Amino acid sequence: MSKILLIVAGGIAAYKSLELVRLARKDGLDVTAVLTKSGAEFITPLSLQALTENPVHQDMFSLTDEQSMGHIALSRAADLVVVAPATANLLARMACGLAGDLASTLLLATDKRVLVAPSMNMRMWLHPATQENVAKLRARGVLFVGPDDGDMACHEFGPGRLAEPEVILLAIQTALSSAAPGKTLAGKHAIVTSGPTQEPIDHVRFIANRSSGKQGHAIAEALAAAGARVTLVTGPVSLPDPVGCDVVEVETAREMQAAVMAALPADIAVCAAAVGDWRVETVHEGKIKKSPGAAPPLLHLVENPDILAGLARAGGVRPRLLIGFAAETQNLRDTAVQKRVRKGCDWLVANHVGVGSDVMGGENNQVHLITAHGVEDWPLLAKTAVAEKLVSRIAAHFAGELS
Ligand code: C5P
Repeated sequence: MSKILLIVAGGIAAYKSLELVRLARKDGLDVTAVLTKSGAEFITPLSLQALTENPVHQDMFSLTDEQSMGHIALSRAADLVVVAPATANLLARMACGLAGDLASTLLLATDKRVLVAPSMNMRMWLHPATQENVAKLRARGVLFVGPDDGDMACHEFGPGRLAEPEVILLAIQTALSSAAPGKTLAGKHAIVTSGPTQEPIDHVRFIANRSSGKQGHAIAEALAAAGARVTLVTGPVSLPDPVGCDVVEVETAREMQAAVMAALPADIAVCAAAVGDWRVETVHEGKIKKSPGAAPPLLHLVENPDILAGLARAGGVRPRLLIGFAAETQNLRDTAVQKRVRKGCDWLVANHVGVGSDVMGGENNQVHLITAHGVEDWPLLAKTAVAEKLVSRIAAHFAGELS
């Protein structure tokens, strides 16, 4: 039975941690809870104890707790440490390595993976201090689930709501399984780009590519399921975040490139995003007015950076396996073979997007995998199956079986 150490910090969402415990117990997990001082303002230790069927720990200097299990042992006894809800204050203390109470001491002392479900007011979440702390923790390998966008207890709308207990449980299961033996990509870091980019023309209009993000998101999720730490850099899509991935949301090609470069070093990069080739040179302030009889505005376009080609030239931090995508309407195979060499990537996944193809937005994809050794034609598969097949090829590559 896998063991979870659940830290419940203060916040109106603390009541949802009780539902999380109920679901986790139903799923066969052993849960031991730690309730912070402010957490105990929202829920009682008695409720947690009744649901976990384990003693609840609250006090750093408890004589009884320290006698039966010291706080260092408590931090190591679990297979996974989960913080739900995590407040801005606790994230800041984690980022700084402070150990002023039992919860932060356990988080500093643990040798296990930590999964954090933040919950706070949207302005607190979006504050650069919190965002810097989150980036720091992510870089240290801390896993995040949520927060979601939504109505908040404080009558504002935005990001900061605790992820739903069912989603947190899914993230727990993914984190537990990625630590298990047989996870072929455990210890590897993968960057995946997905979705379209949007290049603003003015404050209301933009140029974008057709892309649902389904294929890129499926690849990110399959990599995470194989045990890799995944940074998914995505343009605007209407898909849920894939389970177990660190998600960075961007809009423009230049933002996507900056996020990808900031996520290096990585062992694997899969560039599945439909990146806009051009952007408008000067974004118009406000909205361009349409006046009767006036000529339409002329847009002067300039070229965007090529993220994939940039990674190929990244010298010492070039990912060891760099995979690009090619969506073509004509001469797919030949164009893709040449594109692999021109872009400097190791593999290229090529698919038809011509008339009659339902690749964009659809559930299926028929691709060719182009490597230095030739072209493989894969059958028509669900995008999730393409992702799994690609990830097993990636695993085989790292196992030294294929190049
Ligand atoms: O040249 P083309 O757009 O067909 O190349 C497609 C591949 O290059 C994809 O892997 C795409 O993600 C990547 N790409 C990129 N940055 C760009 C344009 C394309 O990473 N600016």
